[in-house]
Amino acid sequence: MTPTRIAPSLLAADFLRLGEHVAAAQSAGVDRLHLDVMDGHFVPNLSFGMPIISAVRRITPLLLEVHLMVSNPQDLIEPVIKAGADIVQVQVETTAHLDKLLMQIKSHGKRAVAVLNPATPLTVIDEVAGLLDGLLIMTVNPGFGGQKLIPYTLDKVRRARALLDERNPACDIEVDGGIDASTIRQAVLAGAGVCVAGTSIFNAPDGVLAGVRALQVAADTD
Ligand code: DX5
Ligand code: ZN
Repeated sequence: MTPTRIAPSLLAADFLRLGEHVAAAQSAGVDRLHLDVMDGHFVPNLSFGMPIISAVRRITPLLLEVHLMVSNPQDLIEPVIKAGADIVQVQVETTAHLDKLLMQIKSHGKRAVAVLNPATPLTVIDEVAGLLDGLLIMTVNPGFGGQKLIPYTLDKVRRARALLDERNPACDIEVDGGIDASTIRQAVLAGAGVCVAGTSIFNAPDGVLAGVRALQVAADTD
């Protein structure tokens, strides 16, 4: 089986040592970084925007996935791509035109990912399953790092994997929120191939490298 891909979420990094933290994650062998953009409107918190994305872009060849937790994501798709995003993740709750948003991202040759909040039913992606390069299932309500995984979300991961196996088998399923060494295996067994983790990597007691390795082992060991 392909190893689980770990996506370190920079939200939990030390912004004063961002370069160091990116380098440490990179040396642990991850293929991507997760960047959370929050607008204080769709979610009750602010994070960072284009200057940080482009600064990270300048120091790493890793895939950058930008998770847009913003109202009106259509206005930020071009700016985040210009700043360096390879993958753009849009919350389905922000739009009546998911099809258009996905096509907007894909028209730039970038990967388009739909994001579902815990309470958002899987049926919203029924008609666009074939257009997705990825499906991100939130395992917490978005807005803050360091929350506990909501157990019922894993059943949605299971149902999503079954649906995508039929309709778009190459589509990755990703989980985000409360992923640590004690929860990651359940997410993988449910069908997640990519796991976002912030706190359990950047606040790991033995450092970032050890944090990523511990998750990788927990993800892929019975
Ligand atoms: C939450 C963000 C997450 C966050 C995860 O709204 O979308 O990406 O950084 O943080 P942890 O891993 O600490 O739950
Ligand atoms: Zn995120």
